[in-house]
Amino acid sequence: MSHQEMLEHADFLAANKEEIARGEWRLKYHVMPPVGWMNDPNGFVEYNGQYHLFFQYYPGAAEWGPMHWGHVISEDFAHWRYLPTALAPSEEYDCDPSKQGYGCFSGSALPDSDGNLVLMYTGHVDDRVPMQTQNIAISTDGVHFEKYERNPVISQPPAGGTEDFRDPKLVTIGEEVFAVIGNRSEETGRAVVYKSDKSMRSWEYMGVLSAADGKNGTMWECPDLFPLGERFALIFSPMQGTVNTNPLIQLGIFDRKTGQFTAETERVLDGGIDFYAPQTMVDHQGRRILIAWMQQWFQTNVTASEGWAGAMTLPRELTVDERGTIRQVPLPELEALRKAPVVSERRIVGQEGFSVEAPVSCEIKLLLGEETSAQKFRILVRASEDRKEATVFDVDTVAGTVTCDRARSGVGNTSESAAKFRPRAGTGGFEIRLFLDTCSVELFAAGGEATLTNRIYPSLSSKGFFIEPVDGEMQVDELTIWPMGSAYLD
Ligand code: FRU
Repeated sequence: MSHQEMLEHADFLAANKEEIARGEWRLKYHVMPPVGWMNDPNGFVEYNGQYHLFFQYYPGAAEWGPMHWGHVISEDFAHWRYLPTALAPSEEYDCDPSKQGYGCFSGSALPDSDGNLVLMYTGHVDDRVPMQTQNIAISTDGVHFEKYERNPVISQPPAGGTEDFRDPKLVTIGEEVFAVIGNRSEETGRAVVYKSDKSMRSWEYMGVLSAADGKNGTMWECPDLFPLGERFALIFSPMQGTVNTNPLIQLGIFDRKTGQFTAETERVLDGGIDFYAPQTMVDHQGRRILIAWMQQWFQTNVTASEGWAGAMTLPRELTVDERGTIRQVPLPELEALRKAPVVSERRIVGQEGFSVEAPVSCEIKLLLGEETSAQKFRILVRASEDRKEATVFDVDTVAGTVTCDRARSGVGNTSESAAKFRPRAGTGGFEIRLFLDTCSVELFAAGGEATLTNRIYPSLSSKGFFIEPVDGEMQVDELTIWPMGSAYLD
């Protein structure tokens, strides 16, 4: 079938999206697929004043399959509308139904020198050499994409690289465009870099951008490179053998003449289990905005019973301060989703704790006052009345840790997760923001220094929010709960 026919077939499969929309687990204000399966964010870009987000998509079932690119669009980063499927497997380099796996794998987007929107993606066909090639598709309206007739634009992995060669991220610096691509050499993850002019039609190999140090990955998926503060940041999603682990962010120096990146610091981007393959874009205000797949490989696919799987995190602004502290903060535009809040009175909370009901899809802000003597405290979200069901966060401000225990979260995976922030002398002024949706929780602590993103599947009647100091009292300066409205325009 032609690309056009494949796209029409994909949108025909998505026609039952009304049925998916009735599902109990359906997320209210996070991007999820119209039907079927979603993984990595792709092609996150501002184009002609609108924000485009593409994603790894299989409309045929709620499981990974031949990869398409789904497409949503927004004018404010808060409300999203589905657009027609942007890419479908159709060519020799991205399609072969006789193989187990194939398709249009992850990639990115940038406008070219003529104002067209260019998508660069990996064409994948299992058990073939070359297995993964880099290709482009071009659009004049940001909606309909034609695959370039001279694809692949990069037809084989570079010297010393294996056939794992995927996920091109386009980066403009001055008049040049770089493509940073994940690769593996023997058992070492690495990112390699190519250079082009702004047409993005022909690419010159520069070399290895950066390679794993023996601990941080046997394959680097979805690399991203961009200026952040005085430095460059390199993000990648490491695989350790066959296990996918938390995405890392390094800060360091990028030499655009040699194409080499020298890392100075490295940390985990988000300590949660369900945060993978993040991708960033820069908007017209110069903000560096990050979004990630809010799920992880090899997790129980609870929502498959409703015909869908996978979602996106909220878009977050990524910053670094002069001390090198990296922060992620949900975009202020998301406040447009807030409904009339429930505000609790300022109070001192002792050992008895304090509980209040919070809607299933809500934002919660907790700000502790200077009179807080507790250094450790506990937060329960989505708690049942008897608290037998609950997702439990433990915060220790002196140790600088926050953990998430999902042992009693409902159905789904129970593994624990943890994030770190700079230890503090006192708890006064400490702020926690929580974004709860039907089957997800994102926590931002200490001004976004520590973040935890997890999927949870409690019963819909579990709406308790509970705080409890462990070793003193908490002075609650502010506790505000906003019910969140729908992010969907369709
Ligand atoms: C990361 C990833 C990418 C690949 C895509 C396939 O989650 O494995 O490396 O391009 O998913 O869907």
